[in-house]
Amino acid sequence: MSDLENKIFYPLIGDKFPEIKVQTTHGEFKLPDHYKKKWFVLFSYPADFTPVSATEFVAFTKRYEEFQNLNCELIGLSLDQVYSHIKWIEWIKQKFEVEIPFPIIADLGKLANILGTIHPQKGENSVRSVFVVGPKGIIKLIMFYPQEVGRFLDEILRVVEACQVADQENVFLPVNWPKHEFLGRQVLIPPAKDQETAKQQPKEYGSYDWWFCYKSLEYG
Ligand code: BEZ
Repeated sequence: MSDLENKIFYPLIGDKFPEIKVQTTHGEFKLPDHYKKKWFVLFSYPADFTPVSATEFVAFTKRYEEFQNLNCELIGLSLDQVYSHIKWIEWIKQKFEVEIPFPIIADLGKLANILGTIHPQKGENSVRSVFVVGPKGIIKLIMFYPQEVGRFLDEILRVVEACQVADQENVFLPVNWPKHEFLGRQVLIPPAKDQETAKQQPKEYGSYDWWFCYKSLEYG
């Protein structure tokens, strides 16, 4: 048997998010259908009652409204039982006066294994992952973080908005968008795929060259 035949394939960008029933602090539901027509960010973390993850939960909650303004829901995941999640949510409320408004999956390992978030060198729990999923259940972005490093919420909000703009406007986005050094919030035109388009695009848009054209968004 070749190495390739032995290889486990995890979901990639562009794949449908795995269809799976999950037990959460808000009851049982099916992913990704539960969030039909919405975006969602699924984020896994190593375990309840751990300090880095506690700071992340407080931060996600404080910025929940910003995710909702992007038509985006949040859902946490760890390999803890739902009872543990409930106790941990209570603890966070007591200590930080923050009530977690979104569901947390109590995973027995099934979804974490499918998503590839269990890295045996890091123990039997999950590493930190972020899956941004679009309204048709397609995975738009995947990020992994080590257990030791908390996520940067500005970046997660940024990539949700960036994925939405790229999708809805059929454009590409430059580094640091929407705060690019000279393009600002402007967006890039997808590279031309034929000679005629290559000739036309620089006439129609701002351009540095036929393969580097840009425009302003009509809104915002
Ligand atoms: C945390 O603080 O999130 C954490 C602590 C120990 C192991 C894994 C995660």
